[in-house]
Amino acid sequence: MRTLKLGTSTLEVPVVAVGCFRIHSLDKKEAERFVHTALENGANFFDHADFYGGGTCEEIFADAIRMNDDIRESIILQSKCGIRKGMYDFSKEHILSSVDGILKRLKTDYLDILLLHRPDALAEPDEVADAFDKLESSGKVRHFGVSNHNPMQIQLLKKSVKQPIITNQLQLSITNATMISSGINVNMENASAVNRDDSVLDFCRLHDITIQPWSPFQYGFFEGVFLGNEKFPELNRKIDDIAEKYEVRNTTIALAWLLRHPANMQPVIGTMNLSRLKDCIKASDIRLTREEWYEIYRAAGNVLP
Ligand SMILES: NC(=O)c1ccc[n+]([C@@H]2O[C@H](COP(=O)([O-])OP(=O)(O)OC[C@H]3O[C@@H](n4cnc5c(N)ncnc54)[C@H](OP(=O)(O)O)[C@@H]3O)[C@@H](O)[C@H]2O)c1
Repeated sequence: MRTLKLGTSTLEVPVVAVGCFRIHSLDKKEAERFVHTALENGANFFDHADFYGGGTCEEIFADAIRMNDDIRESIILQSKCGIRKGMYDFSKEHILSSVDGILKRLKTDYLDILLLHRPDALAEPDEVADAFDKLESSGKVRHFGVSNHNPMQIQLLKKSVKQPIITNQLQLSITNATMISSGINVNMENASAVNRDDSVLDFCRLHDITIQPWSPFQYGFFEGVFLGNEKFPELNRKIDDIAEKYEVRNTTIALAWLLRHPANMQPVIGTMNLSRLKDCIKASDIRLTREEWYEIYRAAGNVLP
């Protein structure tokens, strides 16, 4: 699979990341087949979070991949912390204890990347910095990033945190593309002009922070998949036409749309289906034309001024 450099780091990663949020829907055998099919197809970057499946997703993954030193060196592991029941928590104590739990469940002694999952209103940047320093110096975490953060929140963290923030994982799909459409509709009176994220897309590009789009096939907040969905007839017609031209499935084209953006993003996919996993990986070989990219953008109801 094609690779990219994650943020300002030297970490070379596949352009498609495998999300493990739904791995607890598989039985032991299915989970083994899933992770090994991913590896055989060059998808060796796995995204986790301490709270996926209440921690069981990390355990199921470690068992399925049969974690040992050789396997560990051949994969890239990212996990997240900071979400607790009914609250967010970026306290030093919580970050440190979360990472210990993650490492135990993943059966490893280090994470390649740790992300702060969702902004904590009570976050103290100095405390986060202390936690990151401890995690880095102990070798438990090699790189750091955030998720669902806006530019000011990242700047605030960076006031204290000395490690580079190399990724920002954000919700982004063809049908959930306000971070793109607000940049196209600057200063217009239409709804698409509403800037909901403080121009996070351009901020991340400016600061070499790799955006990892999450839920690349969903519309709304986990409302469902837009592909093959009768709520999006024009979009599906357009994607199907383009898929036919490239002789691939609709899944491949939907992901190729994100990969065509010059921000050089690394989408995090969530399928647990082997054939869809391969369709996603194929997107790495397809470069949509400018015309195709804008046709898909408009067919989803996104507007140009
Ligand atoms: N940072 C955050 O706040 C955050 C939030 C949510 C998720 N995430 C990360 O992002 C990853 C992806 O999220 P997601 O699972 O919501 O993303 P997704 O890839 O948009 O959705 C995957 C789901 O859609 C289904 N699906 C149905 N038809 C599909 C098709 N044609 N192509 C692809 N999928 C299809 C899949 O079912 P099948 O399994 O049957 O294919 C699966 O249940 C997660 O695993 C997690 O790592 C991060």
